[in-house]
Amino acid sequence: MAIRTIHLEGDEVLRKTSKPVTEFNQKLWDLLDDMAQTMYQADGVGLAAPQVGILRRAVVIDIGEGLIELVNPEIIEQKGSQTDTEGCLSCPGEYGKVTRPYKVKVKAQNRNGEEFTIEGEALLARAFCHEIDHLSGRIFKDIAIEMVDVQKKK
Ligand code: NI
Repeated sequence: MAIRTIHLEGDEVLRKTSKPVTEFNQKLWDLLDDMAQTMYQADGVGLAAPQVGILRRAVVIDIGEGLIELVNPEIIEQKGSQTDTEGCLSCPGEYGKVTRPYKVKVKAQNRNGEEFTIEGEALLARAFCHEIDHLSGRIFKDIAIEMVDVQKKK
C-alpha cells in the first residue's frame, strides 16, 4: 500500500468524467487500498479516484463506521433533504453549506465485481453524494449555498 498524492482544486483531473471500472484485478485492489490509506492519513471521511489522479469510478468512504468501497456507484433512490457544512480533501481549509438528500440508496459493485446496494442517511448520505459527484467532475463548492469561515465560527 502507498499514500497517493491528493490533487487539489484547480487541477483539471478533478473536472473530468471518470470511466467505469471494467477490470476487477490487482490494479483495482491496489488503487482501493491506496485510496483508503490516503484518506485515513489525510483524516478525511471519503475519497474518489479522480482525487488521486485516476479517472475511474471508484470511491472509498469511512465516516467512522468502517470502510466502504464503492465501484461504479450510482444513486438509485433519494429522499428528503439536509443542509450542513461540507469540506473536501481537494479543497483544504475550505468549507461550505451544501444541501443534499437526507437519505440515499446506492447501487455499486465491490472490489470483486459483485453488485450490492447500500443505504445511508445523514452524514453517510452526504458522503455518498459528495464522492459520487467527484466522478462527474463536480466539487462541493459548485453547489454550495455559501462558504463558511470555520475560524470565525469557533
Ligand atoms: Ni471531495
